[in-house]
Amino acid sequence: MIVAVDGPAGSGKSSICALVCEKLGWNYINTGFLYRTVGVILRKRAIPLDDIETVLIVVDEIAENLIWNPDTSKVNFHGEDITPLLETSEAGQDASMVAKMPAVREKLLPLQRDLTRKSSRNSIVDGRDIGTVVFPDADLKIFMTASLEERARRRFAQLKSATVDSDSVDLQVIQDDIVRRDHQDAGRGTAPLMQADDAVLFDTSSMNVVSAVDSLIDILRSKHLI
Ligand code: DC
Repeated sequence: MIVAVDGPAGSGKSSICALVCEKLGWNYINTGFLYRTVGVILRKRAIPLDDIETVLIVVDEIAENLIWNPDTSKVNFHGEDITPLLETSEAGQDASMVAKMPAVREKLLPLQRDLTRKSSRNSIVDGRDIGTVVFPDADLKIFMTASLEERARRRFAQLKSATVDSDSVDLQVIQDDIVRRDHQDAGRGTAPLMQADDAVLFDTSSMNVVSAVDSLIDILRSKHLI
């Protein structure tokens, strides 16, 4: 069974979906890691996004040498754990730019399907176009969202606790970054972020992680998926 979860940055997709999968023994796939990896490697090698030919060579190299561990959500590229590099705001912003490129999306599409289908377990797959493009026939589609202010507050708290120089973390800068990403992800021509017609709207604004996990499990139960 495949559950597609789409929604904007900071809506809680990855933490909620990972915990639901842990509780149910399901497979969790966060497709954003693919776009983040492309962005991080291009920046590391100083390859400009308008050099499409080289960008696509790098995407092929990533497809062949990237290993995603569904149990730990860790990402290895050429044998190196690159997970910490993918978790920064800069990586999210770079991923969003890369994600605007139709040729990149086309190459990453079969990878997302293979990663999901090769698992013998049921899967929750999260991203921006999972219910609309990657798995339009998913058994259940969820559109997860939260207010802009709440998404910014969550990201702020997360960065504050993870950053050594926590005084440098600024709520307004984070909110501006989210607005920019929303605009890029929902405004692009190919596979924009949007709620599929048959998706269930799931607003986590007033929920903490524990209650959101319980509510999502309730939805799965009400749809007879568990
Ligand atoms: O979910 P995330 O924040 O890790 O995603 C990073 C960026 O990747 C996001 O801003 C848009 C892009 N993305 C996408 O376009 N399609 C997906 N299925 C997943 C992510």
